[in-house]
Amino acid sequence: MVSSKAVLVVLSTALASSGVGAQLIRLGGVNTAGYDFTVYTNGSFTNNAAIPPAWEYAHFSGEGANLYRVPFAWQEMTPELGGPINTTFLEQYYNVTVAAALASSPTAHVIVDLHNYARWNGEIISQGGPTNEQYGSIWYQLGQVYGNNDRLLFGVMNEPHDLDIPTWAESVQYVVNSIRASGATNYLLLPGSNYTSAQTFPTGAGPYLLNVKDPLFGTPERLIFDVHKYLDYDNSGTHAECVTNNTEVLETLVSWLQEYGRQAVLSETGGGNTASCETYLGEELAYVKSAYPSLVGFSVWAAGAFATDYILSMTPYANGTDQPLWIDAVRPNLP
Ligand SMILES: *[C@@H]1O[C@H](CO)[C@@H](O)[C@H](O)[C@H]1NC(C)=O
Ligand SMILES: *[C@@H]1O[C@H](CO)[C@@H](O)[C@H](O)[C@H]1NC(C)=O
Ligand SMILES: *[C@@H]1O[C@H](CO)[C@@H](O)[C@H](O)[C@H]1NC(C)=O
Ligand SMILES: *[C@@H]1O[C@H](CO)[C@@H](O)[C@H](O)[C@H]1NC(C)=O
Ligand SMILES: *[C@@H]1O[C@H](CO)[C@@H](O)[C@H](O)[C@H]1NC(C)=O
Ligand SMILES: *[C@@H]1O[C@H](CO)[C@@H](O)[C@H](O)[C@H]1NC(C)=O
Repeated sequence: MVSSKAVLVVLSTALASSGVGAQLIRLGGVNTAGYDFTVYTNGSFTNNAAIPPAWEYAHFSGEGANLYRVPFAWQEMTPELGGPINTTFLEQYYNVTVAAALASSPTAHVIVDLHNYARWNGEIISQGGPTNEQYGSIWYQLGQVYGNNDRLLFGVMNEPHDLDIPTWAESVQYVVNSIRASGATNYLLLPGSNYTSAQTFPTGAGPYLLNVKDPLFGTPERLIFDVHKYLDYDNSGTHAECVTNNTEVLETLVSWLQEYGRQAVLSETGGGNTASCETYLGEELAYVKSAYPSLVGFSVWAAGAFATDYILSMTPYANGTDQPLWIDAVRPNLP
């Protein structure tokens, strides 16, 4: 007779592998930018991307980071809208970067981030621009390449903005269906509008994205909301000084997530290497850490191919020394 303990083990293993009951571990890390360079907020791309240095992954993982968001330009992955993935780019560049990130530690997770603001060359998906089929096509193909790995999260679109939200929610449902049709079981990150604002999410896109269904699992456990929040006075992430720790905004978001039993990830946040940001970003990330599992974690903006003197740079110096903001605000709040 099989013991009840053995049955439980078999059952929980089956549930975990089916996704039900599986939960992402607490995540924290950094965006490694480069393949997204010169993608404008209108979705244009001027073909001037850069390679995030592979050594950074081992560097950050050695300090306890376990989340890397790797943005890329849509036009670079599929040069023709709706066409096939450029296998040269995938195999010689993007895949090499993803592999380095995954290899940097057994718990390292990667967000595959389509960094196009819901646009291609100035036109909005399903709102005058690319069709949902064309949008679904790149993710169907990426699902075939990167499917069935729980350490690879699919950021289905970076920072949608200035669009019709109900129509956008339909595009999100379309792309979720496309990814599942490829057989990929991965966690999916669903973005709202206002450049993925954490602040407007609960009253803006959130109520619409709650209706997005996972056709494979039936339950929404693998549909995580994607939010961004900066700490400068206009929330743009372009100023060296920080003016808030965002606790109020994030508490409101967390209450909303708890009401609906959902999760979100803060996939962009950050500030300058200044005393104000060292204080406020540290407080914000401590809050994010405390709000797990409603908030799965964070990735700060940004390291990768950014110069060490970029205003929000998290790129370590050539001698291996980290940026002051990383040392004082990020590192203490890694998982
Ligand atoms: C495919 O990617 C390679 C490597 O990035 C690049 O040299 C080539 O021009 C790309 N092909 C097209 C059609 O864009
Ligand atoms: C890309 O990398 C993934 C995992 O790192 C691997 O499974 C896949 O075969 C690679 N694909 C290509 C086209 O190199
Ligand atoms: C997108 O924005 C860039 C930068 O402002 C501009 O140069 C380009 O002409 C715009 N492209 C389209 C299609 O509007
Ligand atoms: C958020 O985005 C929606 C849709 O793009 C827009 O109607 C609304 O005005 C934006 N809200 C803010 C506060 O920017
Ligand atoms: C954020 O700032 C507010 C107001 O200054 C403060 O009450 C709160 O304790 C801070 N949050 C954290 C997590 O330190
Ligand atoms: C590393 O380089 C940075 C920037 O040049 C410098 O501020 C720092 O003191 C250096 N650290 C060491 C240990 O040499």
